[in-house]
This record gives sequence, structure tokens and C-alpha cells, in this order.
Amino acid sequence: MKLILLILGLILNISSCAEILCIYVLPVYSHMSVYNAVTMELLSRGHKITLISVDPRENERNNENVTLVDVSFIKAKYEDEMEKFLINPSDLLKNNPFLEIIIELFETNEFKNLLKIDKKFDLLLMQVFGFSPFNALAEHFNVPVVSITATDALSIEHENKGNVMNPVAHPDLLLEFPIARTFLERLQSITFWMTYKFVMMPALVKICDDVIDKYLPDTKNRDYYDLVKNVDLLLINAHPVMGFIRPILPNTIPLGFLHIYPPQPLPGILQEILDKNTNGVIFVSFGTVYKPNCFPNVVQKLLTACENLPYLFLFKYDGVLDDVPKNMIIQKWFPQSDLLAHNNIKLFITQGGQQSMEESILRRVPMLIMPISSDQRANAIRVEDRQIAKVLDIHKNDKINSDDIKNSILDLVNNKRYKTNIKSLAKLVEDVPMTSRDKAVWWIEYVIRNRGAKHFHYEQKDIPFYQYHYYDVIAFIGAVIMLIILFLIVFLRCIGKCFKSLTAYKLKIQ
Ligand SMILES: *[C@@H]1O[C@H](CO)[C@@H](O)[C@H](O)[C@H]1NC(C)=O
Repeated sequence: MKLILLILGLILNISSCAEILCIYVLPVYSHMSVYNAVTMELLSRGHKITLISVDPRENERNNENVTLVDVSFIKAKYEDEMEKFLINPSDLLKNNPFLEIIIELFETNEFKNLLKIDKKFDLLLMQVFGFSPFNALAEHFNVPVVSITATDALSIEHENKGNVMNPVAHPDLLLEFPIARTFLERLQSITFWMTYKFVMMPALVKICDDVIDKYLPDTKNRDYYDLVKNVDLLLINAHPVMGFIRPILPNTIPLGFLHIYPPQPLPGILQEILDKNTNGVIFVSFGTVYKPNCFPNVVQKLLTACENLPYLFLFKYDGVLDDVPKNMIIQKWFPQSDLLAHNNIKLFITQGGQQSMEESILRRVPMLIMPISSDQRANAIRVEDRQIAKVLDIHKNDKINSDDIKNSILDLVNNKRYKTNIKSLAKLVEDVPMTSRDKAVWWIEYVIRNRGAKHFHYEQKDIPFYQYHYYDVIAFIGAVIMLIILFLIVFLRCIGKCFKSLTAYKLKIQ
């Protein structure tokens, strides 16, 4: 009996193995960690993956169940441009490395060969960032498609799925505030959204359409918005506990904390250093996209602030520094997620990248956030609201000095409030029926099993604007009310006149 069950189980397991085509094209280390977590989880369930990636990880390269389409040579070309773009994404059309990488990818032989591949796929899993001609691959391979983002989705993606898109309540990811509270913020958010939607999007769509025309001419569904409509599910990596709360439809699955695993042991020396410094260790990192040597003033102030504090500082710094304080260790790289799990870590000084903040929360380490780019600033405000962190806008505000940094560090380390709050927040993240990785894979398999999820399509999204906001009905009712009023006025005037002429007539007779 057991044997039969085992064999049955094996058969069922084999039949539920799918061939999945994954496309990860934006070379941002922390984003790739998120996609990698999903890939690994899919592999662990026995699925086979064909992966197009500009930055494949070791565990993706050396896996017998991964067919890798390696386009990592594209990545190096755009590294500097990427840094500039992410610090100030002012123009999405000019010098936008994301756009350039996507277009360049279509021209590679690796990609052209993929189009000719003789393989039956079950699903396209595709990273999106506002637009993507890769949508057309779903039709080319005749498969359902799931989009995934490493952060919250851009406003345009929310709107494409039919989620509430209001620039006051939900400013775009690229803006610096999570809610447009002041008049100026509202003005900025609304102009940004209008420009994005009515100026940039048509231009981006034109670019996508041209790419599809050129490289996938057999696509029937060539209109970009039709392709977008074709996306079955959108997985967004934004957790409500971090303040990402908005009305979303069943076609959008919120995840978050996707890339974090139970902590691994630290390398020997690091473990020793951390164990020894019982007075407290503070980890400093500005992430992987920006080199801290772009911010010499900030680094100088930071060093001055750290110098006289009774803690050990570990600074992830990709460069050479003079005058490193005695209580600071500088290294190009630290195993951040594992390091933050050590008991003696008191504080994390970070630029506020979403993945870093997620790690800090699950490891229960309060943060001092010095945001660099716009979404980091908005994220920082979100978690500051949760009272688990403090924000110092030092990259933008020259007036912030080393004393401000020092005082913030002291407050964050000594005031128990931050630690208590972050502990309860972490518990909320963990208090779920299944982990985000399980949830992501469950939904991906759901789309595979059911050959799509078009039944979640929000048809009402296509109701014309004036009908959706019932302007036509309001106009009609308004018109009827006006007519009635007009009629009454005419009627009363008439009666008045009749009455007058009647009295005049009566007077005449008398
Ligand atoms: C590849 O897939 C097969 C069949 O599902 C499985 O037995 C094997 O362990 C997988 N290999 C790796 C490295 O995951």
C-alpha cells in the first residue's frame, strides 16, 4: 500500500513539474535576490527553468534544472548609468538604462536563439518595471504570464491591473513621499502622474511596439496595452506591515520579505569579532548600487560621528579611506542578512533600500536611514511612522552635521522603544498562514494548473472614464433639475402675468 502511494505520489509529482521561462533583466543586486528566491523555490518544487538573466547567481548557473540564457555581458555596460539614473530618475526616456538594456537584449544572438527554441513552456514569469516588450513572448510561446516586481509596483502597473490609482493617496514609487499630504506634494504627484501617463507612456509604448514589430513580427496582439491586459497575475513585493497599504484586486498578490532565509553562521573571524564586542556593534551600508565614494561629505561626517561612540562600527565601503577611526572595520562586503541576526548588533545604518529594511525588520534591528533615491526616502518615511527607525536626510540636506548623526545613533541604541516596536513588527510579518516564498510559488503553480488566471481580469477597468465616474448620469440629472427649475420659473412668470392681466381686466370692467 505504502509503495503504491509512493509511486502515485511520484507520478503526480512528475506530472506537476512545469517548464517555466523566467526573464530578469534589471541588474540591481537586491532586486535579483528577490527573483532568485522565487527561482530557487520553484526549482525546489521540481520545476524546470529556462532563465534569461543579466545577472545570474551561482546557484542558477550551476543547476542541472536551469537552462541559462546568459546575457550578463550587457550588465557591465550600464553600471554607471544605472547609478546615475537611480539617484535621479528625472527622465525616463533619455539615458534610461532599463530601456536600453531591454532593447539591447532583443538584439543578442542568445535571445534570438531562444525565440527559435523547441520547447513547450507552461508559463512566462517576467520581471516588470513600468513597461516591457517581453509581454509579447507570452503569445509567441502561447503561455500564461505572471509579472513580478522586487518592490512595490509602479503606478502604471497598478493601473493596468485595475487597482486604485490615485496620485494623492498613492504617489508613484519614484516620488519621495508615501502620501501626498501637503498641497505642493499633491501638485507634484498629480503632475508627475499625468506626465507619466500621457507623455512618457505613449513614448515608451511606441518603443515597445517598434521592438515587437521588429523582433516578434508574428505577434498578432501587437498593441502594447492588449499585451498588458494579457498578464494573468501581478506579484508585488510590498508588505502591508511596512506601510504598503492600498486597495488591490484579486489579480495582484502582495508578497514582501521574499529573499530572507534563516540566518547562516558567520565566517569565523567575523563571528569572533561580533561575539567579543558585547557593548554593541553597528553595521553601516549604503547598498550595492551606489558607491559611497560618491558622497565624500556624508562619509566624512559619519566617520566623525562614529569616532567618539563606544561601539564597534562595521562599514561596507567599496573604496579606500584615510583616517578610519579605531572603532571601525571597513570591508568591501559583509554577509549582511546573517550579520544583522547577531545579538550584539544594535543598529543598522542604511540608505533605506527595501530589501535591506526587510532584513533589518526580520532580524529585529532598529535603523538609522539616510535615503539616497526617491523610493528610499518614501520607504524611510513609511518605517519611521512605525517608530522602528529614524530618518536623516543627509544626502540632500547639507545642514545635517556629525552631531546630529551621533545623537540619532545614541537615541536609537539606548531608547528601548525602537527595539520593542521592531520586535512586534517582525512578529506580525511572521504571523501568516504561509511564507511569502510559499505564497509566490502557490500562485505561480495556480496559474500553471489553470492555464492562466483571466477569470480575475477586472472588466470594469475598461468602462469609459465618464461612465465610471458617472459624469454622464450626473450631467443628465443636472439637466433634468435645471429643466424643472426653468419650467417652474416660466410657469410662475406666466401665472404672474395671467394674474396681472386678470386684475387689469377686472379693473377695466369696474
Ligand atoms: C532536478 O530535477 C530532478 C527532477 O525533478 C530532481 O530529481 C533533481 O534533484 C533536480 N536537481 C537539482 C539540482 O535541483
